[in-house]
Amino acid sequence: MPCRLLPGNHDRRANLIAAFPKNGTDGNGFVQSVFDTPEGRLVFLDSLAEGRVTGELCDDRLAWLDARLAEVAGKAAYLFLHHPPVELGLTLLDPLGLEEPQRLVDVLTRHGNVRYIFFGHVHRDIAGTVAGIPFSAQRGLHARFMLDLVGEEVVEQAPPAYSIILIDGQRVVVHSHDFLESWPLWSPETGERVR
Ligand SMILES: [Fe+2]
Repeated sequence: MPCRLLPGNHDRRANLIAAFPKNGTDGNGFVQSVFDTPEGRLVFLDSLAEGRVTGELCDDRLAWLDARLAEVAGKAAYLFLHHPPVELGLTLLDPLGLEEPQRLVDVLTRHGNVRYIFFGHVHRDIAGTVAGIPFSAQRGLHARFMLDLVGEEVVEQAPPAYSIILIDGQRVVVHSHDFLESWPLWSPETGERVR
């Protein structure tokens, strides 16, 4: 299976490129690439701002995105980046998202072909829309942040998860899987416990 890694705020771009040279760069040294499928274009953005927790999409990175979306005008595109480009109502985490998110939203709105935004960073399962574009956040592979809409979130021990995403011309379906959790299994036919 082809794979692409997105830089997060703890990464160093040079190390990522050195360790995963097949990951692709955008010509300006950023870890940005596209993957074209029969169902549309997957666009991988580099929102890393080295030395800061917040994310950044500078003029160069936004111009690259603008050009890649223009190439598939009228066709579906799906966006992947580390930082949330939308405030989520989380007191502590909202100031740590993508800086100047409206600049990204403006590009997406102008093209009108991005059908979904996938991001991480906040270590919680969250879904919603921004400027009419659906999004979801992936929880992550270690701790998650506690849900706290009024105080200060703390790191909470919680099961790691990954998601499997099904995309075709009609739908986007996100399955989250707590892959280290082991619960009793019951047969729906007999009602008997099978494990
Ligand atoms: Fe992060």
